[in-house]
Amino acid sequence: MARSRFEPLAREIFTLKKRLNAVILAHNYQVPEIQDVADFVGDSLGLAQQAAKTDAEVIVFCGVHFMAETAKILNPDKIVVLPDKDAGCSLEESCPAEKLAELQKTNPNFWTIAYINCSAAVKALCDVIVTSGNAEKIVNAAPKDRDLLFVPDENLGQWVMEQTGRPMTLWKGNCYAHVEFQREQVLATKRHFPDAKIVVHPESLREVRELADAVCSTEKMITYCRTSPAKRFVIVTESGIIHRLQRECPGKEFLCAPAFDAMRAPTDPCHCSECKFMKLNTLEKVLNCMKNLSPRVELPAEIIKRARLPMERMLEISAR
Ligand code: 13P
Ligand code: SF4
Repeated sequence: MARSRFEPLAREIFTLKKRLNAVILAHNYQVPEIQDVADFVGDSLGLAQQAAKTDAEVIVFCGVHFMAETAKILNPDKIVVLPDKDAGCSLEESCPAEKLAELQKTNPNFWTIAYINCSAAVKALCDVIVTSGNAEKIVNAAPKDRDLLFVPDENLGQWVMEQTGRPMTLWKGNCYAHVEFQREQVLATKRHFPDAKIVVHPESLREVRELADAVCSTEKMITYCRTSPAKRFVIVTESGIIHRLQRECPGKEFLCAPAFDAMRAPTDPCHCSECKFMKLNTLEKVLNCMKNLSPRVELPAEIIKRARLPMERMLEISAR
């Protein structure tokens, strides 16, 4: 690990990982020092796939709460811990299970598709789960005779409707961090660096997505930048992803979209591209949650049972 001040913590984490037979899963938005101790770093889809196949006894989930819950749904008998129990998500907050249940009652023909960024209780009410990495494929596979209800991200839902041509009723939730990206900022960056490719996460507003050379999940962003002949990219998502992009795409330059400002170095990410929930996790908290086996994710057996079906449906369709 290059960041020497983290070395002692990282050493303790590695020792404990062996002793506990633990696996560390980290989202692409985690700080570099967490990504560097993880066994796997990826997007929500990759993390769910890893959680589904791990034989570790303890899962240390470095991401936000709904992601750790997803790992628990797939591993009811394992211990799942997360570094900070308050690492929530504005999309999850926007969609309480009781409100969704009320809406579902208004149309018995609804086929409910939930973006994975929601609580286990919401997953338990749904027919299938999607991530930004597989939403198009899963919506294309939805039964043709059903009315599609997509929760909770209105922007991802709009984008999927544009890609698939399937009309959907959209829940009005959004990611507070992605809706901060402004069309004008992206255009200003593009004017300054006309050779740069614009890569946008689908949780962003349509007016920003319209400027994109590629709209994709965080994992697909990495593949896109690695395989593109372009040398410079404007990345419209959370700044944590820059760590993997720099490591996996040597010789290329990455600009954080909202960082562009005449007074600021273009490679210096500003706080508006940080998810305050993802950034609650620190390497120290990773070590502590492993030492204490807490905070731990616990879910009612009934919720796990009901939420598992739409999760498994997602994994099965994704693998086709
Ligand atoms: P990805 O699945 O694309 O990594 O996105 C997760 C997320 O929370 C985006 O804000
Ligand atoms: Fe939720 Fe947005 Fe943070 Fe992702 S970036 S975890 S969608 S608040």
